[in-house]
Amino acid sequence: MPHPLDGKVAIVTGASSGIGRAIATSFAAEGATVVIADLTTEPVEGGESTMGIITRAGGTASFVKTDVGRWEEIDALITQTVERHGRLDVMVNNAATYSGTGLLETSGAQWDEVLRVNLTGMFNGCKRAVQQMLTQEPRNEARGRLINLGSQQGIVTCPGDTPYGVSKAGAIYITRQIAVDYAKDLIVCNCISPGKIVTGAAGLAQDPARLENARRRTPWPRFGRPEDVANAAVFLASDRATFITGSNLVVDGGWLAG
Ligand SMILES: NC(=O)c1ccc[n+]([C@@H]2O[C@H](COP(=O)([O-])OP(=O)(O)OC[C@H]3O[C@@H](n4cnc5c(N)ncnc54)[C@H](O)[C@@H]3O)[C@@H](O)[C@H]2O)c1
Repeated sequence: MPHPLDGKVAIVTGASSGIGRAIATSFAAEGATVVIADLTTEPVEGGESTMGIITRAGGTASFVKTDVGRWEEIDALITQTVERHGRLDVMVNNAATYSGTGLLETSGAQWDEVLRVNLTGMFNGCKRAVQQMLTQEPRNEARGRLINLGSQQGIVTCPGDTPYGVSKAGAIYITRQIAVDYAKDLIVCNCISPGKIVTGAAGLAQDPARLENARRRTPWPRFGRPEDVANAAVFLASDRATFITGSNLVVDGGWLAG
C-alpha cells in the first residue's frame, strides 16, 4: 500500500526528543527518508534514539549533529542531505530551547540564547531550505515544503517565559512571510502551534504551576501527545496539503478556542 510520504526526503531539527522525535518516526513510517538534526542523539525523555526506532522498524534515517543557531552547520546539513539523497522535499524547523524567565529575570545572555536557537535557528533553516528548493523541479506541484513549530504561546501570553513567547510569535510571522513571498515559486510553508504536549525530562515537564495553568486552559480531557503533533506534520508534509500555505495549524485540545 502506498504511504503519503513515499519518496520524500525530510529533515527534522530537534528530532532526538519529544515532538521532533515523533515527527521523524512518523515521517519514516509514512515512507520518507529522514535526516535527524540535533545537538545530541540522546532523547531528553530517555529511551531509544530516534535513529534506533526508525531503523528497527525498517525505515531509513541518518543523524547529522547540528546546532541550528549556526548558519554554517545548517548549510552543511542541507548540502550533505542533498548530496546523499538528491533533493530536500520537507524541512521541519522544530528545535527550540527555553529560559523559564519573565522580563525582569531574563538576562541578556538568556534572551540572546533563546532567540538564537528558536528564531535565528528557524531563519537559518528556512533560508537554506528555500535556497535549495528553488533549484529543484516541482514534484506534484510543489518544489518543497517548510513546517515551522510555533506554539499557542506565540499567540497568547506565555507566563514565565518572555523570550520563548517572543520567539514563537516570530515563528508564526516568518511562516506567513515565506508563504506569501515564495508561493509563486511553488514553495509551501506552514506553522504548527501545539498546546500543552507532554514531552521533556520528568522534572521540567512536571512543574506544578505550569501544569495547573495548562490543565485549566485545555478543554480536551488530557494533555497532548507528541503523536498528535506528528499527525498534523504528516498531513502538511504530504501532497494533500498543497493549497494550504501560510497557515498556523493549532494542535492544542481547544486551548485557543477558550
Ligand atoms: N511540548 C510542548 O508542550 C510544546 C508546546 C508548544 C510548542 N512546542 C514546540 O515544539 C517543539 C518541540 O518541543 P519539545 O517539547 O519536543 O522540545 P524538547 O525540549 O523535548 O526537545 C527539543 C530538541 O531540540 C534539540 N535542540 C535544542 N537546541 C538545539 C539546537 N541549538 N540545535 C539543534 N537541536 C537543538 C534538543 O536537543 C532536543 O532534542 C519546539 O519548537 C517547541 O517550542 C512544544
